[in-house]
Amino acid sequence: MTEPIALCPSGEIGENESRGFTPSINGSPYPVFAVRKNGQLMAYRNLCPHAYIPLEWVPDEFLTSDKSLIQCANHGALFTLDTGECVAGPCPGQSLQAVEISESDGTVYLQTANL
Ligand code: FES
Repeated sequence: MTEPIALCPSGEIGENESRGFTPSINGSPYPVFAVRKNGQLMAYRNLCPHAYIPLEWVPDEFLTSDKSLIQCANHGALFTLDTGECVAGPCPGQSLQAVEISESDGTVYLQTANL
C-alpha cells in the first residue's frame, strides 16, 4: 500500500491531545495513535514494547496527566513524545515504533509507503 490514509481533520487533535486510530493496512487493522505537542504531530504504533499490547485503557488517553510523556496504562511505562523511547517502567531502552504522519489541507494523514 502506498496511498496515504486520511485519519481525521487536523482540528480534532488539539495541543497536548492524543488520539487513537485503527486504519486498515492491506486488509488488517493497524492501530496507531497521534499526539500534538508545540503544534507538531507525532505518531506511533499503538503497541507497547513491553508486552506487545495496546497502551491505553481509556480511548484516546495516551499521555501522562501533565501531558509531558506517553504512558502505557498496563504497567506504567513512560515514553518521550518526540522519540518514543522508554524512559521509565519495565522496558527501558526500548521504543515505540514511529509511523509517518502528515497534515495537508486541514487533514491528518498516515503515510503508508513504508508499512
Ligand atoms: S504492556 Fe506497556 S508497560 Fe507493560
